[in-house]
Amino acid sequence: MTDRYLEFSNSALGKTLSGLLGLPSPPRLVRAAGAYAARPLEARGVMLGSTSAGEMASPLLTALAEAGATVQVAPSHAGLLRVKASAAAVGVALKTEPNPEDKGAGASAYVFDASGIDGPARLRELYDFLQPRVGRIPANGRVLIVSRAPADAGDAAAQAATQGLRGFIRSFAKEIGKKGATANLLEVGRGGEAAIAGPLRFFLSPHSAYITGQTLALTAPARASGDLFLSPLAGKVALVTGAARGIGASIAATLAREGAQVVGIDRPQEEGALGETLARFDGYGLALDITAPDAPQRIAQELSTRFGGVDIVVHNAGITRDKMLKNMAPHLWDMVLDVNFGAILRINDALLKQGLNDGARMVCISSIGGIAGNAGQTNYGATKAGVIGYVEAMAAQMAKRGGAINAVAPGFIETAMTAQMPTGPREVGRRLASLGQGGLPIDIAEAVTFLASPLATGVNGRTLRVCGQNFVGA
Ligand SMILES: NC(=O)c1ccc[n+]([C@@H]2O[C@H](COP(=O)([O-])OP(=O)(O)OC[C@H]3O[C@@H](n4cnc5c(N)ncnc54)[C@H](O)[C@@H]3O)[C@@H](O)[C@H]2O)c1
Repeated sequence: MTDRYLEFSNSALGKTLSGLLGLPSPPRLVRAAGAYAARPLEARGVMLGSTSAGEMASPLLTALAEAGATVQVAPSHAGLLRVKASAAAVGVALKTEPNPEDKGAGASAYVFDASGIDGPARLRELYDFLQPRVGRIPANGRVLIVSRAPADAGDAAAQAATQGLRGFIRSFAKEIGKKGATANLLEVGRGGEAAIAGPLRFFLSPHSAYITGQTLALTAPARASGDLFLSPLAGKVALVTGAARGIGASIAATLAREGAQVVGIDRPQEEGALGETLARFDGYGLALDITAPDAPQRIAQELSTRFGGVDIVVHNAGITRDKMLKNMAPHLWDMVLDVNFGAILRINDALLKQGLNDGARMVCISSIGGIAGNAGQTNYGATKAGVIGYVEAMAAQMAKRGGAINAVAPGFIETAMTAQMPTGPREVGRRLASLGQGGLPIDIAEAVTFLASPLATGVNGRTLRVCGQNFVGA
């Protein structure tokens, strides 16, 4: 469904009127036009700053240069010597920051190496780097802070100050959201540097347009991902449940865009729509209710005999049956619990026994409703929080097989599900977010594709909110 107010407020008349009346003016987000590129930052200026004790300039410089970025450096900031020494060591040329008056030459993204923060005083180095440059962050610009994982940061003061960055990023994202710019935090555990290039590419690109104010943890990768940035899913088989329409259809198409052979599942009554969706990218359809008693067995068998196993599993199918608990009939409770939660566990149990290839990556679709809770959604909230718990609990088992399991928690997304909401709550759902608008199915699909790909090697057991920093539960 289209957001008519977003369209209006971005027209010439709408801009004038919303300015005069003090109405919200949600920015027009720039989304990716196609598949991942080999050098996605080509011809883009990215400014790199660091604390005076930063440890990650070398991997960051290497990743930025390989992505094609022109790396700019701030002339006088605490980490200048460290950035310069690392650049000399890894052979990356640095450009001095252009004059602020030199229009168009400024950086489109700002990356700050916040490792080495050992207490509150050193947080000042982040302030000194970013504060004078806030006004120069362009529309749809990107800010990425890269810190140590708090647990690996050192003593109590270092851990606490490093964790302070989470509050910083949540607040700062709210300040720059008006122009469609995003700010996120990557927490890197010891050894996680080896996996920094994928998340760096994702967060600095238009593929992450609707993700802001979030923290993602990166740990040492179980196995090297190699240089798999172009068609990263080529040769992979991907299963997507609920693929006929909405978010699932977009996930299926986006996985196919990056090279995957998609197997889509949806309910028998959606067979026509499923076939239409999958025909666009040569996908294979299975008309099947995921809660049917024989569904896990059939899925596992079909994937192993017909496709030689599965490499990516996306549990997307989900339903709502909202009622206040006092009015909720038991069948509404059971149905939501079974589709959104029980079926995932049963299908995975079957796949773990038969059909799941080594190195497989799973992504489960949760919801911010499972984080914040909504009146009338006790059943739905339980399933979506359960899914978050499930990916945390299963991470070690998936890592042992060389793979991973993560969740995506969408905020308000423009689909058939949200089109049914009454106008008032729908408008609130859209506007009460740093980016001032609902997301599109493609925003969820991009996050799922990132987590399903080798770009997210080192990300395991995590939940990534894709919500434009919706204020619900933030
Ligand atoms: N739309 C949002 O704003 C939003 C927000 C947060 C989370 N989510 C989650 O995203 C996922 C997709 O949501 P959507 O908005 O695209 O919903 P949707 O209703 O448009 O699509 C869901 C798909 O799942 C299929 N499905 C439902 N039950 C099934 C079953 N038993 N077996 C097989 N297929 C089944 C449906 O037929 C449908 O094609 C869900 O898990 C939902 O909870 C959506």
